[in-house]
Amino acid sequence: MRLNSVIFKLGATILFLQLIILIPLGYIILQLLLNYSINQTETQLVKMSEKFASQVEQIDKPENLQLLDHLTDMTETSAVILDSNGKIIFETNWHDNITNEILTGKEMELIHASETVIKDYTFNGASYLKVAQPITDEEGNKASVVLFSSFGLISNSIHNIIVLVILASLGAVVLAIGFTIFISKKLGAPLIAMEKAAKQIAEKKDFSLRVHYNANDEIGSLATAINHLSDTLERYQTNRNEFFSNITHELKTPLTYVKGYANAVRHEMYKDEAERNEFLEIIENEADHISSLMDDITDLSKIEEGKIDLNKEWFDFNTLVEESVRRSYFRATDKGLRIQAFTHATSTPFFGDKNKMEQVLTNLVENAVRYTETGEINVHVMEHSSIIKLIVEDTGIGIKEEDIPYLFERFYRVDKSRSRANGGTGLGLAIVKNLVELHEGEIDFHSEWRKGTKVTLTFPKTEESS
Ligand SMILES: Nc1ncnc2c1ncn2[C@@H]1O[C@H](COP(=O)(O)OP(=O)(O)OP(=O)(O)O)[C@@H](O)[C@H]1O
Ligand SMILES: [Mg+2]
Repeated sequence: MRLNSVIFKLGATILFLQLIILIPLGYIILQLLLNYSINQTETQLVKMSEKFASQVEQIDKPENLQLLDHLTDMTETSAVILDSNGKIIFETNWHDNITNEILTGKEMELIHASETVIKDYTFNGASYLKVAQPITDEEGNKASVVLFSSFGLISNSIHNIIVLVILASLGAVVLAIGFTIFISKKLGAPLIAMEKAAKQIAEKKDFSLRVHYNANDEIGSLATAINHLSDTLERYQTNRNEFFSNITHELKTPLTYVKGYANAVRHEMYKDEAERNEFLEIIENEADHISSLMDDITDLSKIEEGKIDLNKEWFDFNTLVEESVRRSYFRATDKGLRIQAFTHATSTPFFGDKNKMEQVLTNLVENAVRYTETGEINVHVMEHSSIIKLIVEDTGIGIKEEDIPYLFERFYRVDKSRSRANGGTGLGLAIVKNLVELHEGEIDFHSEWRKGTKVTLTFPKTEESS
């Protein structure tokens, strides 16, 4: 595990928190226990000494001394009986003969005043709690019984508790380390796998790579986001490759024509002046085709990259439709087709980019003319309470149902040779779809093979267009 890894930081934080909680908590618990044991011992000594003092009338009576001997044995305490001058007349349960002054002058005064003395006492380097209780002997003198409890006994139990607390803390630390290792395996492994995957995606451009981690948490969301990113990049790469191969193909055909006919003109391979002009016209048409292909590609890539700025303004949709029908009029009538615009109202105000909407209309009307051999083309504009509808209907060759879902893809043409013969590259509907969506509109493409096609655009009448 690296020192700067998230898991290590998490583990260190857990340990640190544990320590800052455990150390003061341990200290407080010890103090409480210490106070409690001292209090307990003190109470016990006071009670014992009181009881003994109340039962004793003659201090050197052997039964009394035996009783005291017995009591101190049982309670692991030591005792001394002093006469009224403070002289030891009996001592029990001491390992060494006691030589220290048992009660100070001041303490003797307290005894003479019938008061209990509670004090710390040191003998042979050991600390004791000392409780002295006055005893009134048969002559009315104030002797005393003094009980001692060793602090060593108290600290022994405290020591045991300290050992327990330390063991519990060590257990908690071991648990924390175990938990950290567990978490590092559980969280670290997928994170490292994701890091590797992201590096591979970025450095080796391997967009087919996916991260396998299915959990409903933040790491799961990260994995989904990485997979989504690779999906997008993979699609982008495939699109780009397809786009380049399509574009090379689309350019090659007209360029072959241009080269071939230019060569024919240069080597005077024509019969007469009329044929020479025909060759030159082909060259001109192919050059136009390349130029319109370039325009379409530029438009499409601008739209797809979101770099297009709509220049929205109020205009009359009817006029735009009528103009675009008029522009296609001669091409339609040349093919023997009837073309008509039905505008149903004197004007249909529309708020949008006029040039882009003109491009949409031109593409749809041109398709209708291009892919219709007999019959008619009708364009309707209809205004309802909240929508504006545009319908371009023809009685042309139609499209088979299975082809309809692909029509809006770049370079898709149902009949490539027919479309190319008509000058099409398969970009028109892709541009239309993008421009309509930029105007919050929807497209409905309805077609029947050999019967005709009906394209319906629906635009919402927004605040501005109402
Ligand atoms: N009204 C229609 N009737 C029949 N087929 C159509 C019609 N409109 C489009 N299509 C089919 O859909 C295909 C895609 O149309 P799209 O307008 O995108 O491309 P295109 O007309 O071939 O080329 P261009 O980029 O010049 O418009 C066409 O090639 C044609 O096969
Ligand atoms: Mg077209």
